[in-house]
Amino acid sequence: MASENKQIHLKTRPEGEPQADHFEVITAEIPKPGDGEALCQIRYLSLDPYMRGQISGRHISGVVNPGDLLMGETVGEVVESNNSELAVGDLITFRGGWQQYALTDGSDFQPVDPRIDPPSLALGILGMPGLTAYAGLLHLGEPKEGDTLMVSASSGPVGSMVGQIGRIKGCRVIGIAGSDEKCRWCVEEAGFEACINYKTENLADAIDRHCPDGVNVYFDNVGGDTLEAVIWRLALGARVVLCGLSSQYNTAEMPPGPNPGSIIRARAIVRGLVVYDHQDKKPAMLEDVLSWLQAGDIKYREDITEGIENAPQAFARLMSGKNFGKTIVKVS
Ligand SMILES: NC(=O)c1ccc[n+]([C@@H]2O[C@H](COP(=O)([O-])OP(=O)(O)OC[C@H]3O[C@@H](n4cnc5c(N)ncnc54)[C@H](OP(=O)(O)O)[C@@H]3O)[C@@H](O)[C@H]2O)c1
Repeated sequence: MASENKQIHLKTRPEGEPQADHFEVITAEIPKPGDGEALCQIRYLSLDPYMRGQISGRHISGVVNPGDLLMGETVGEVVESNNSELAVGDLITFRGGWQQYALTDGSDFQPVDPRIDPPSLALGILGMPGLTAYAGLLHLGEPKEGDTLMVSASSGPVGSMVGQIGRIKGCRVIGIAGSDEKCRWCVEEAGFEACINYKTENLADAIDRHCPDGVNVYFDNVGGDTLEAVIWRLALGARVVLCGLSSQYNTAEMPPGPNPGSIIRARAIVRGLVVYDHQDKKPAMLEDVLSWLQAGDIKYREDITEGIENAPQAFARLMSGKNFGKTIVKVS
C-alpha cells in the first residue's frame, strides 16, 4: 500500500472549458478507518459531464468550491475494515472522490456485481450512465418497434446505450455525434442505422434525409442548436427525453429562451396539445362545466363587439391583447 494519498482539488473556477491548471494535486495522509468505517483503495474514478456544473456551483448534486476535493463516483477495493458489512478485498461503488484512498462509513456503497467485468463498467454502461439510458429511454421515451429514434452525443456512455437499447427494441436508430470516427463507431460497432456528424454536415438537412417521416423518439443529451434542429422534425406523437445539456455546460451566460435545464430539474413532462385530438371528451366536458356553471363555481367574461363591420377592429384588439374575456362579435 502507498504511504500517501494523492488527491485532486479545485484550484480556481474555470470560465469556459476547464483546463488542467484549474486543478491541483495535493498529497494528504491516508486516513485511518474509525468505528464502522472502511478504507478503500480507489480502483476507478468516474468523470462525468455533471461535474462541470458542480464546479460552476450550479448542479443539483452539490457544489465544489476552490480548495475542495472533487467529488465523484468510484470503484474501490476495501483494504482495511471496521465495518461488519465490508470485508478486505470487497469491490464496491461509492462516492470516493478524486483521490487514491477514501473512507466509507458503509452508508452509501453498493457491492460491484461479480458479473461486471471489467469492474469499471460499474461506472459506465452498467452504472449511472447506463441506468440513465435504460430508464430514460424505456420509461420516458416509450420506444415502439419501427420507431425512428434519434440520440445526440451518441457515442458516449448514455447516448450509445440509448441507441443500442433502442435497436434491440426494434427502432431505427440515428445518432448525432461530433466526429467521423465517433459516427463510424455508432454505425459499425453499435449497429445504428446512421449517424450524423453535426460538425461537418448541415444537421437539419441530414435529419430530413435520414428521417423523412420525422423523429418518433428524440433523446437529447446536448440542448442548443441540436435540440432546436431536431425539435422541428418531430413526428406526430413524438416523445422527447431531455437528459443533458452538454452544449451549455461551459458557458457562464445562459442562452436566451426557455431553458431545457428547468424541465430536467423539475422532471417535468411537457406535452403538445391539439384540441382536435380530444373531441371524444366533449360530452363529458359539457356535463361537468354546465353543472359547475349552474352551481356558481365558474366565472366567465365575454368581450362583445356589435356589428359584423366591427369584426376587424375587434380582431385587432384581440391580437394586441386589448380584449378582456372571450372575443365575440354580435352579428345580429
Ligand atoms: N439527466 C440525468 O440524470 C443525466 C445522467 C447522466 C448523464 N446526463 C447527461 O447526459 C449527457 C451525456 O452524458 P455522458 O456521460 O454519456 O457523456 P459523454 O457523451 O461521454 O460526453 C459528453 C459529450 O457531449 C458532447 N458535447 C460536448 N460539448 C458539446 C457542445 N458544446 N455541443 C454539443 N455537444 C457537446 C460531446 O460529444 P460529441 O462529440 O458527439 O458532440 C461529448 O463527448 C450529458 O449531458 C450528461 O450531463 C444526464
